Amino acid sequence: MTPLLEIRGLRAEIAGRKILQGLDLKVDAGEIHAIMGPNGAGKSTLSYVLAGKPGYEITGGEILFKGEDLLAMAPDERAAKGVFLAFQYPLEIPGVATVTFLRTALNAQRRKRGEEELSSPDLLKRVRELARKLGIDPEMLRRPLNVGFSGGEKKRNETLQMALLEPLLCVLDETDSGLDIDALKIVANGVNALRASERGMIVITHYQRLLDYIVPDVVHVLAAGRIVKTGGKELALELEATGYAQYQNVAA
Ligand SMILES: Nc1ncnc2c1ncn2[C@@H]1O[C@H](COP(=O)(O)OP(=O)(O)O)[C@@H](O)[C@H]1O
Ligand SMILES: [Mg+2]
Repeated sequence: MTPLLEIRGLRAEIAGRKILQGLDLKVDAGEIHAIMGPNGAGKSTLSYVLAGKPGYEITGGEILFKGEDLLAMAPDERAAKGVFLAFQYPLEIPGVATVTFLRTALNAQRRKRGEEELSSPDLLKRVRELARKLGIDPEMLRRPLNVGFSGGEKKRNETLQMALLEPLLCVLDETDSGLDIDALKIVANGVNALRASERGMIVITHYQRLLDYIVPDVVHVLAAGRIVKTGGKELALELEATGYAQYQNVAA
């Protein structure tokens, strides 16, 4: 079976600095992968490259999403195909109500896929229902996107976005953030609620804490721009005990 995501020998640079240096990763549908690693290893770079953020030069390797060349696709095309990236510092859009943003995002994807747009009442109904399921106060939907949202509210909103867009691949970069335990639990609940046989998830984190709430199928260590170790969920606990020093040596 074609993997959902297959990264082979990926090399990426920013501002002339080599960051990803031959990274391999395979994610099958239905799996949750955690990527852990020391600060500066290239974890966020990997998520930016997956998203197609400008400024990164790909100098080698390939990324296949359901067998298709992801790097050849524009960012909005990636989203329409089902790639969802959640960032540590989400966009704030003053003057745009959260529900309007959600409608715009969903309908942009539907148009791109040649599907009919969802009418405002249908969209609102769907969003309200998801909000209820996820324990989100519907009042939040009327507020401008992320403006003045607490850390927990931003995470709730992100979860709602994911649930609405029904992506095939979710990449969450939660690294190094000052997420409190409540926000971590919201992220975890969102990820766990969206676990599905057709969907794959990559959860990027510097700390083991998040994985107390999300049980990954596979754990990878990313150090100096490569995946240097892959294991089961016990690898996260091992890392918690031993730290990353040994891997920094391996990768140097
Ligand atoms: N815009 C940039 N210009 C130069 N170096 C950068 C830039 N962004 C990131 N880096 C460097 O790339 C390396 C990897 O960063 P990053 O992917 O953010 O690591 P991680 O998320 O694992 O902590 C770091 O050494 C960082 O300093
Ligand atoms: Mg990072």
